[in-house]
Amino acid sequence: QQQRRLVSRQRFVQDFSQCLFEFVVQLLPTTEEMAVKEDVRKLLERLIRTIEPDSRLLSFGSSANGFSLKNSDMDLCCLIDSGERLNAADLVTMVGDLLERETKFHVKPLPHARIPIVKLSLDPSSALPFGIACDIGFENRLALENTRLLMCYASVDPARVRTMVLFLKVWSKRRKINSPYKGTLSSYGYVLLVIYFLVHVKNPPVLPNLQQMPPLRPISEEESHLNGYNIWFFDDIELLRQRWKSSNTDTVAELLIDFFKFYSRDFAYNTGVASIRAGLLKKEEKGWQTEQSDFGTSRERNRLCIEDPFETNFNVARCVTKDGLYTIRGEFMRASRILQMRPDRAILALAQLCE
Ligand code: GTP
Ligand code: MG
Repeated sequence: QQQRRLVSRQRFVQDFSQCLFEFVVQLLPTTEEMAVKEDVRKLLERLIRTIEPDSRLLSFGSSANGFSLKNSDMDLCCLIDSGERLNAADLVTMVGDLLERETKFHVKPLPHARIPIVKLSLDPSSALPFGIACDIGFENRLALENTRLLMCYASVDPARVRTMVLFLKVWSKRRKINSPYKGTLSSYGYVLLVIYFLVHVKNPPVLPNLQQMPPLRPISEEESHLNGYNIWFFDDIELLRQRWKSSNTDTVAELLIDFFKFYSRDFAYNTGVASIRAGLLKKEEKGWQTEQSDFGTSRERNRLCIEDPFETNFNVARCVTKDGLYTIRGEFMRASRILQMRPDRAILALAQLCE
């Protein structure tokens, strides 16, 4: 009977991997959608250059890191190469006025946000059945770098990494635990949880730690640092593909099952900080405790701790509240349970997961 159970488990895992690949492929943006978005980026860049001739408008976030789903938002970052430049708040106001005048976008400038941005949206049309939503920020070079880091991680083992990440993004959206504004976690946070798991939890690891690999040549302080943060990582993807062979042979289904299990019960939520740069850290050593004595909103800030790969004093999960974390863990447990029950048909498990 044990033998039979083992065989049926193996069959489930195989089928479930296949289902995941097929599911994720349908969720990728079409080439048409990507072309429209690229046209929008070029148009916006041209317009912004009438104010700042030396500016470039670059994509970051999911449209640039390989983790994009159909109809996902566009994250754009405006870089200005000339010496003297306006501050971000003034730029947001000016660019907002300009785009309001010159385009059909709904424009909402937020010059006083922590990171000043212009929010744009376009209503759905026949060519764009879901419209477009786009944020333009200014000089956010760290976001461009962390996008590049995620992109490199995705390229080391695209079949497993991209499938896991894309599935978790859809799953977290469907289960409504992907809203930093409502106390749950951003997509960026989920991606970091996946990478942390593949670098530091799985043994043997699925991914190398790109920030700790030895550089091929000496790197100066100036090259490796941006705004005081060390942004160096091993980014020669071709070489990486030749050199890095993980001895972990788990299928994507096995990895996902373990991911849910790990974050349901094994991760040290109360004391631990997930750091893709340095592994498991202690809240204490980062000064990120959630002490009872620490009243007010700051207590809510460090329920879940995920260190940003470059801005190491920044908790990417700072928006996750006590209730939010409770809900997220509840969802990890639910997913784990569904996958443990091994229904005969993997496709049913997948549907139930994303209900
Ligand atoms: P979807 O928009 O859901 O498709 O996901 P996404 O991959 O674009 O992620 P998200 O919108 O959460 O974040 C977009 C980018 O903004 C990320 O790739 C990061 O570069 C940056 N970002 C988002 N949140 C944070 C944060 O808390 N800290 C830092 N440093 N960067 C962030
Ligand atoms: Mg985004």
